[in-house]
Amino acid sequence: VLSAEEKALVVGLCGKISGHCDALGGEALDRLFASFGQTRTYFSHFDLSPGSADVKRHGGKVLSAIGEAAKHIDSMDQALSKLSDLHAYNLRVDPGNFQLLSHCIQAVLAAHFPADFTPQCQAAWDKFLAAVSAVLTSKYR
Ligand code: HEM
Repeated sequence: VLSAEEKALVVGLCGKISGHCDALGGEALDRLFASFGQTRTYFSHFDLSPGSADVKRHGGKVLSAIGEAAKHIDSMDQALSKLSDLHAYNLRVDPGNFQLLSHCIQAVLAAHFPADFTPQCQAAWDKFLAAVSAVLTSKYR
């Protein structure tokens, strides 16, 4: 559970991310595919070259969904319910990959918002992304 202070740190940075979801989300995916090659297997139908239109478009979807989660930070189960079904039933993404993506998102935030991304802010984001991942992997069996 995030404290009120942690929620404010997450929501505050989301405000700065929201106009740049494609670029920042695309970079997070570029980092994911570069460092954790096994994650590429889920996207065999994409052009995975760094900065490709496919990668940016998909990165934008991922960060927009994270922005929505932040808007509904106290009711993420409902807000992410459809995405949770998709990842569990259709995509069957190995749950371990969510930690890898969360790590890459944090690297992007550190690189682009060094003044905002203090140790406390990172700790809040780490908790938040773990909570989002927990919802998206909650329907696996
Ligand atoms: C699709 C969000 C983690 C693989 C999607 C979509 C969103 C999304 C918004 C598009 C859904 C739609 O089109 O209706 C997220 C979030 C994640 C996450 C917020 C974690 C924070 C992952 C991970 C993987 C993954 C870790 C695999 C490494 C996919 C794939 C698709 C998808 C393969 C379908 C892509 C396509 O064919 O268009 N995800 N995702 N996701 N996600 Fe995730």
